Amino acid sequence: MKWLLAKASFGLLAVLFVSFAVATYHSTSSAGIGSPGVGMQVVETNIALEEKLAANVVPTPLPPADKGGVLAVNAYKNVQVLGHVSAGEFTRLMTSITQWVSPNQGCAYCHAPLRDAAGKPVVDEEGTVQVDLNNMQSDELYTKRVARRMLQMTMRINGEWKLHVKATGVTCYTCHRGNPVPANIWFDVPDTGDAEGALGNRAGQNAPAPVAGLASLPGASLRPYLVNDENIRVLSTEAVGSDNRSSVKQTEWTYSLMIHMSKSLGVNCTYCHNTRSMAAWSASPPARAAAYYGIRMVRELNNAYLEPLHDTFPVERLGTIGDVPKVNCATCHAGAYKPLLGVSMLKDFQILAEAKPQPPKTANLQANPAPSGTGVPSVPVPSPDALNVAPGDAGASDAGPAPALRPGTAPAPAPPSASGRAPARP
Ligand code: HEC
Ligand code: HEC
Ligand code: HEC
Ligand code: HEC
Repeated sequence: MKWLLAKASFGLLAVLFVSFAVATYHSTSSAGIGSPGVGMQVVETNIALEEKLAANVVPTPLPPADKGGVLAVNAYKNVQVLGHVSAGEFTRLMTSITQWVSPNQGCAYCHAPLRDAAGKPVVDEEGTVQVDLNNMQSDELYTKRVARRMLQMTMRINGEWKLHVKATGVTCYTCHRGNPVPANIWFDVPDTGDAEGALGNRAGQNAPAPVAGLASLPGASLRPYLVNDENIRVLSTEAVGSDNRSSVKQTEWTYSLMIHMSKSLGVNCTYCHNTRSMAAWSASPPARAAAYYGIRMVRELNNAYLEPLHDTFPVERLGTIGDVPKVNCATCHAGAYKPLLGVSMLKDFQILAEAKPQPPKTANLQANPAPSGTGVPSVPVPSPDALNVAPGDAGASDAGPAPALRPGTAPAPAPPSASGRAPARP
């Protein structure tokens, strides 16, 4: 009897085991990386792949606009970055920006609202705030001032960081995807209040942080590498007699960053490293060089564009310690090896491809277009004179401070950091 019971429970266990295996089995796809035979692969379940495809659908671009006619600088009153494009292209971009950044809030997310006699914003039946078509030039809302800087940032990325974004480039949609605040932003982590002295500092350990994939690695690892330019390299190049003074703790910070990068791109370490030697550039797949420039680009975006907006953002947009929302790899990549799986939206929006000097307003200045009442400004009739505008540099200073940084030309070794970390090597 006992024996029978034991046999039956054994059988039951086996059935459970097999059904668990069947229920949790997911078919997978894999892609090899690097030279054949090195066994470097990215493996993904087909379910995850389908989810990724669904999450990266690109919105249909509006039909191209008329490139001729009155320049935006003449058609409107307060255009500082897009003055060199035709009024038609300008309107097409405004409509697209609304679709990319504030589809539910409309133009009024950035433009001053129409107000009733009591000064209250006018809303339609659906509760959408109406814009004041006679006051489109107003910079009253902080969102418009941020958006102007975002236009410059997008042009900077596409024009000056081709080493990272190639011709694929980015648009507002790459980061925003229909949300005024992109889904993947980050703030500084408040001091954990670790005890000093005899009780020791746990150095960010045992505090699982999402940025580090919930591993017991430092959770504040983004600031040193994605705002400051602390040295990421920690490995020794020599077996003995090395002057490498990197500690295990420093290595943990590097690993935390590496996990952030892997998760942001939805890949594993072998996507960028031949794990035979994590440090060797010669054995690394080309993606690692792309990532090298990505790190430098993100540093510039945070330092030259986001941080200077500190006083422009309202307090509720700042982090718990009063820092600005910042960009990391996930802001654009959102879990894909290339943002939007490599589809270029930029090809349909070439006016975002690079910053251009701003032409001066010409004598035949046209007034702000009359309100059409449809919510879209009427495009002024093209005047032949307007085409004679010579692009000058009179308004160039309006484009805001041009960041001094320039992307390098090769993964160059950084100068040894003052923090006593390992000197960088190519
Ligand atoms: C995400 C923010 C944002 C949204 C949404 C937006 N705009 Fe704009 N708009 C701007 C910025 C920034 C400028 C200034 C551009 C510059 O300085 O080059 C501007 C300028 C304008 C101007 C020029 C006004 C003047 O006289 O100086 C018009 C007209 C305009 N937008 C129309 C629209 C319309 C119509 C919509 C909705 C379909 C819209 N915008 C939605 C950010 C936005
Ligand atoms: C590299 C990623 C990136 C790109 C590209 C980008 N943005 Fe942003 N944007 C951000 C981040 C990060 C913030 C800060 C989030 C916040 O406001 O809390 C932001 C904030 C904004 C805000 C303020 C939203 C709010 O409610 O505080 C506006 C408006 C905006 N962006 C418009 C644009 C426009 C228009 C473009 C394209 C010309 C653009 N962005 C391109 C990353 C990006
Ligand atoms: C998207 C590409 C990418 C992925 C994925 C990636 N790395 Fe890295 N890794 C880099 C780059 C680029 C550097 C060099 C950074 C620099 O010097 O600025 C680096 C540096 C390192 C270093 C320091 C090497 C040295 O010279 O001391 C280690 C260790 C490392 N990575 C480990 C990992 C681990 C472990 C993973 C997986 C969890 C990983 N990496 C995933 C791109 C990547
Ligand atoms: C402003 C948006 C943006 C940000 C932020 C960004 N990337 Fe990218 N990245 C791109 C675009 C666009 C491409 C596609 C370029 C192309 O077509 O080859 C790309 C491509 C890459 C590739 C090459 C993939 C391949 O298979 O060739 C790597 C690796 C990469 N990014 C790593 C990173 C890392 C690591 C970070 C953070 C440190 C980062 N990126 C931040 C926009 C961005």
